[in-house]
Parts: sequence; structure tokens; C-alpha cells
Amino acid sequence: MGEYAVETQLRELRAEARGAIALAECLAALQELEVKYLGRRARLTTMLRSLGQMPAGERPRLGQLANEVRRELESLLEARRTQLASGQAESELVGERLDVTLPGVAAKPGKVHPLMRVWRDVEETFVSMGFEVVDGREVETDFFNFEALNVPQDHPARDMQDSFYVGEDIVLRTQTSPVQIRTMRRMTPRTPVRLVHPGRVFRRGDDDMTHSPMFHQVECLYVDKGIGLTHLKGVLLAFARSFFGPETEVRMRPSYFPFTEPSAEVDVSCPWCHGSGCRICKGTGWIEILGAGMVHPNVLRYGGYDPDLVTGFAFGMGLDRLAQMRYGIDHVRLMFANDLRMLRQV
Ligand code: DAH
Repeated sequence: MGEYAVETQLRELRAEARGAIALAECLAALQELEVKYLGRRARLTTMLRSLGQMPAGERPRLGQLANEVRRELESLLEARRTQLASGQAESELVGERLDVTLPGVAAKPGKVHPLMRVWRDVEETFVSMGFEVVDGREVETDFFNFEALNVPQDHPARDMQDSFYVGEDIVLRTQTSPVQIRTMRRMTPRTPVRLVHPGRVFRRGDDDMTHSPMFHQVECLYVDKGIGLTHLKGVLLAFARSFFGPETEVRMRPSYFPFTEPSAEVDVSCPWCHGSGCRICKGTGWIEILGAGMVHPNVLRYGGYDPDLVTGFAFGMGLDRLAQMRYGIDHVRLMFANDLRMLRQV
């Protein structure tokens, strides 16, 4: 190869490399160009090596040119590398940019359903007074739901209008009271029997603001030697004050239930107006919350206890109503509709 050809090649190579380096778009491409133009098998390298074969008079000039090209490409590569590296860092920063002034996405944590909050609260209160939480059955026999609770065959509560029968003598329980019998039968002859049982109950009929065909009750029973109305009143007062607040008063009005004698309906002083009368208590100062009484001797007998040896009190109250009162939920259906708008409010 003649010296002019070598010189031309060097200049062409330089021009080509300048363009390629300027156009390289990433560090990896630049790395390839470095290998291509300056690597061990690069044309420039072979040309430098073959300078010895050039005429002696031309060698210094060609050698100088080749070295110049080499240094220039080295510094161009270096400059482009710095440029690309900072550009890359910048585009990474741009990609990761956060606008801290954008409105946030609020986390919506789940929470316990108002009914379950009341359920647990009531349970805890009675457990703290020594009552045991017991299990019951939602599908009951006619015997446990009615007969053993001293509800005679022709009692209106057994009317097909009120109960969901699912088979011959099988009924969706209309009240939590059958756990009284089941628990007494399990416990007899031991005393005391102290149970609390919250659960679901079912009734045909009304379906309105305050009634749902499925709702919840909590049952309470205390059987022992020498239990009287005063014990009932004491437990009710303790519960009412724990649930509605320490100022709360309790009053009992004579009533009738087949499974208790005497029976009472129990009111608490209105938690909103503290007895002076308001819209919620309809001006009376009192709100009815449960039915109660002294366990009927027949019921004790059905439970396997001798009414001459032990006595007991019992009561049952609606849990849904307690939850509605506490959280201001006006329609009982809202309790079971799973409407997030309501659930988020309470
Ligand atoms: N079981 C009754 C009802 O569903 C409530 C009740 C009243 C339960 C008096 C009792 C009780 O244990 O003694 O209306």
C-alpha cells in the first residue's frame, strides 16, 4: 500500500469514526465503536503496525498522523461517553420524577361491621361478669325453639306466619332462647349455669324500617340456688351502664313471656336526652331494649333442673337495635345490605 493510500485511508477512517461517535445513542453502542476503531483488530491498529513497511522518509509523518487520529478518537469517545452518561442519568431522573403536589390516593382500611362491634362488646361485658359464651343452632327443632320453652302447641308464636319451617318439626329458630335448654341439659346438675349467646334468628312477617326477617339477639341465662329479681336487675344495670354510659338507669315493666314468670320488659334511660324526653325516645325519657324474667319452673324442668332447688333469671335482647342506636342507623335493612357508603360512615 502506497503512502498516499495510507494517508487517505487514515483521513477517511477519522471522518467515519467522528460521525459514528457523534451518533452513538447509548453507552453500549459507544463501547462497540471503541472496539471497532481502537481495538486490537481495528484497522487503525493494523495500519500503525504496518508503518514499518512504509518508505523511511514517510514514516514519521504517517506515524504522527495515525497517532493523532488515535488520540482524537480516544478523546471523542471519552467526551461522548461523559455526555451519554449524564444524559442517561438525567433521563432516569425525569422518568422517576414524582409530583409531590398531586392529591394523594387515600387508603381505605377495612373495619369491623357495626353489628359485630356491638356483638363483641356485649359478649365481653357479660364474660367480664362471669358468663360463659355458648354455641347454639340456627336450625332448631320445634321442641327446643318452642315446646321446652313452655310455648304451648296453640300459642300464637308458633303460627306459620311467624316461623320459617324447613321440615316437619324443624324450624329456623325464631329466638336465641333455645340455647337455654341446650345449655342446661349439657350442664345439669352443675350450678351455676351462666351463659351468654349472641346469634342469628329468623321470623316471617314484617319487613320494614325496624323489622327484618333475619336479625340478631343475645340471650342470657343465670341459674343457681337463690337467684332472684334483684340479681337480674343488678346484672342489667351493670350491662346498661357499661354499654350506654355510667349515668344510665334501668326500669322494669311487668310483661308476659311463656318462658318466664314473672316477666318484664326492660327500658334504659334515653342515652341521648338522659331521661328528659327527646325525639328518639318519643318524649318518654326511656327506650325499651329487652325482655326478661325469672325462668319458668317448666323451663327449668325441661333443662333438667329441679325448680324447688334452683331458680334463675333470663333475658333476650335485639343486637341490631343496639347497633342501630349506637351508630344512628335508621333502617334495619342497612345493617345487612353491605352498602359501603353506610359502612364507611359508622
Ligand atoms: N325470646 C324473647 C323474644 O324473642 C326474648 C326474651 C324474653 C328472652 C324474655 C328471654 C326472656 O330469655 O327471659 O322476644
